[in-house]
Amino acid sequence: MPIPNIIAIDGPAASGKSTIGYQLAESLAYLFFDTGLMYRAVTWLALARGIEIADETAVTALAEEVPIEVTPPSQKDGRTCDVTVDDHDITWEIRKPEVEANVSVVSAYPGVRTALTQQQRRIGLRGRVVMVGRDIGTIVLPEADLKIYLDASAEERARRRYTEILGRGGSADFNEILSKVIARDRIDSTRAIAPLKPADDAILLDSDHLNAEQVLQKVKELCLN
Ligand code: DC
Repeated sequence: MPIPNIIAIDGPAASGKSTIGYQLAESLAYLFFDTGLMYRAVTWLALARGIEIADETAVTALAEEVPIEVTPPSQKDGRTCDVTVDDHDITWEIRKPEVEANVSVVSAYPGVRTALTQQQRRIGLRGRVVMVGRDIGTIVLPEADLKIYLDASAEERARRRYTEILGRGGSADFNEILSKVIARDRIDSTRAIAPLKPADDAILLDSDHLNAEQVLQKVKELCLN
C-alpha cells in the first residue's frame, strides 16, 4: 500500500498528537498542520482587542477576517512553526493560560468552526499532509487516507503537561492542570458541532503506557501497512 497522502490525527488536549504529528510529518517530508493553533489565534486576538469572549457575533466576525499566517519555524526554541497575526509573532502567546482558559468556548461557536474548517480543508486537500486536531477525521477531512485517534487518560495527560512545564523551568500545580484538562475535555466532547470523537474508521491508539518514541513507532508502522 502506498504511504497515505492525507493523514488525520485527532485526540484530546495534551494527548501528544502535535508532537507525534510533527515528527511523523518530518519523517515523511509532509506538511504538518496543527489546527488547534487557529482556534488559539482567534482566541488570542479577541483577548488582545478586548472583545468579550461571550460575544459570539463579534468573535465569529473576527474568525472570518483574521489573517492567520502559519510558516516554517524561524527560531530553534522548540516551536514547530511560526504563527503570525498582523506581523505579530504569537507562537508562544497562544500557549498562555488566558488563551487556554477561553479557547474551548471560542471553538464551540459554529461560525468560528465554519470559517476555520474551510481554510483547513483547502490546505489539507493539497495532500502530503499530517493534520492534527479534534475533528479532522470526522469533519475537516473525512476522506483522509489514514485516521488515527490518539488517546490517554486525563491523569497521564496532566502529568505530561506538568512535567513539560517544570522542564521549561516553570512552576505548576498538578491538580490545577488536571482539573483544566478535564474541563476542556468536557467542553470539547459535548459541544453540539464537531465534538471530539473518533471517526468510525479511525485507528485508536492508547498511549498511557507508551512513551513518545513508542507512539511514533506505532504510527509509522500504520503508515507503512
Ligand atoms: O489542540 P489544542 O489544545 O491546541 O486545541 C486548542 C483548542 O481548540 C481545544 O480546546 C479544542 C479546539 N480545537 C477544535 O475544536 N478543533 C480542532 N480541530 C482543533 C482544536
